[in-house]
Amino acid sequence: MSSKMWDGRFKKSLDLKVNDFNSSIKFDWVMFREDITGSIAHAYMLGETGIINKSESERIIEGLEKIFEDIENGTLEIDFESEDIHMFIEAVLTERIGDTGKKLHTARSRNDQVALDIRIYLKKQCDEIMDLLKCLIREIIEKAKENKTTFMPGTTHLQHGQPIVFAHHILAYAQMFKRDIERIADCKKRMDYMPLGSGALAGTTYPINRHLVAEKLGFANVTENSIDGVSDRDFVIEFASDLSIIMTHISRFSEEIILWCTSEYNFIELDDAFSTGSSIMPQKKNPDIAELCRGKTGRVYGSLITLLTMMKGLPLAYNKDMQEDKEAIFDVLENTKLSLDTFTGMLKTLKVNRDSMKKASQKGFLNATDCADYLVKKGLPFRDAYKITGQLVAVCIEKNISLEDLPIEEYKKICEIFEFEVYKYIDLEYCVNERKVYGGPSKESIETQIKNLEKFLEG
Ligand code: ARG
Repeated sequence: MSSKMWDGRFKKSLDLKVNDFNSSIKFDWVMFREDITGSIAHAYMLGETGIINKSESERIIEGLEKIFEDIENGTLEIDFESEDIHMFIEAVLTERIGDTGKKLHTARSRNDQVALDIRIYLKKQCDEIMDLLKCLIREIIEKAKENKTTFMPGTTHLQHGQPIVFAHHILAYAQMFKRDIERIADCKKRMDYMPLGSGALAGTTYPINRHLVAEKLGFANVTENSIDGVSDRDFVIEFASDLSIIMTHISRFSEEIILWCTSEYNFIELDDAFSTGSSIMPQKKNPDIAELCRGKTGRVYGSLITLLTMMKGLPLAYNKDMQEDKEAIFDVLENTKLSLDTFTGMLKTLKVNRDSMKKASQKGFLNATDCADYLVKKGLPFRDAYKITGQLVAVCIEKNISLEDLPIEEYKKICEIFEFEVYKYIDLEYCVNERKVYGGPSKESIETQIKNLEKFLEG
C-alpha cells in the first residue's frame, strides 16, 4: 500500500499495482529540470505578490535549487514509487524544508503544472531538432559542392527521365529539411504560451501574476483560457506531426541510398563505419542505418496516431488519458534525433561513384527531350519535334545504341532539318548546363541554391 499527498479524503491506501499503473515517474522524471524551474518561477511570483511572504518564497527557491543540483549530480535519487515527478519534487522539498514546502502548491494544480513542464521541455527540444536539421543541411551542401558536375539520371516512376547532377538531386532534400526547420519554428511559436494560473481548470482566486511567471520562464505569451490552458495538447500533436514529416524525408532519402548502393546501381559506397556485414554471406555490406531510419519512420507515425487518438474523445478539461502524451512524444523525439544524427554521419562519409552515375546517364535516352527541343529551336512545333524524336529513339532501341551514337544520316532520314550540330545539343553536359532556369540543375543554379541555403542557415 502506498500513502499519497492527496489521501485526505481516502480511507484506504492505493493498491500497489494500481499505484504502479497510475504512476508516470518512470518516464516523466526526465522533466525534473523543467518542473523545478517552473516551480521556482511560481514560488518567486507567490513571494512578489505577497501570497506567501518573501522569506518563505526564498526558502522554497533555495530548497528547489538544491534539489535540482542534487538530482543533477546524483546525490538525490529519484523515487520511482512516487506518482509523478511533480509529487516527488514537492515531497522532497517538504521533507527538507518543513511546512514552508507545503506552500509551494498554493494557487497551482498539477494540471497546469504538467502543461507548463511539457511546454518548457518541448520548446527546448524544438531547438535541438532545428540544430540537427541545420547540421544535416550543411552536410548536404558540402556533398553538393563536391558534385556540381557529377551527372546522374533524373527519374520519374524510377525510369530514366532527364539528365541532372548529383548536387541538384540532394539539394532537393535540403529544401525539404529547410521547410522542416520553418515548420518547427512555427510550431514553437504556438508552444510559447505559459499555462500556469489555469489551476485545475477554472483559474484561481489568488491575486497571482501570470505575466511575471511567463517573463521569468522566457515565454512570449500566457494562455488565454484556463480550460484550454490545461486541456490543450495540440502543440504535442503538432510537434509529433512535424517530426513525422521530417522522418518522411529521411525515409525517402534512405530508400534512395539503399537503392544507390546496390550492385545494380553502384552510385555510392557507404563508409565501413556506417555499414554492417552479414553473419553468413562474407561479401555483404548492408545499408542497415538507412534501413533503420526508414523503419523508425513507421514507429514515429504510430506515436502520432497514438496522440491523435488519445485526444479525440476527451471532454474538457484535464483527463488522465493525457498522461499518455509523454511516452509517445518522448519516443518520437528520441528516434527522430537518433535518425537525424546517424543519417548525417552516413551522408558525410559516403563515397560518390561519379563514373557509375555518368555511365547510367548515358543510357535510357535522358537527352530525348533535348533532342526535341533542338528541333523546336530550328522552328518545328514541339508536338512534331516530340514525335520525330520518338521515332529516332525507336531506331536507337532497334540498333541498341544511344542518340549520341546514331549517325547523322539516320537523323536526316527521319527529318531533314537535323544538322551535325545536333550532337552538341544532346551532349550530357550541355543538356544539364543549359537548364539555366531558376531552380534548374545548371551549375549557376546549383550555386544559387547553395548560396540561398547558406544564407538561410546563417539567419
Ligand atoms: N502525471 C500527470 C500527467 O502526466 C500529471 C497531472 C495529474 N493531474 C491529475 N489531476 N491527476 O498528466
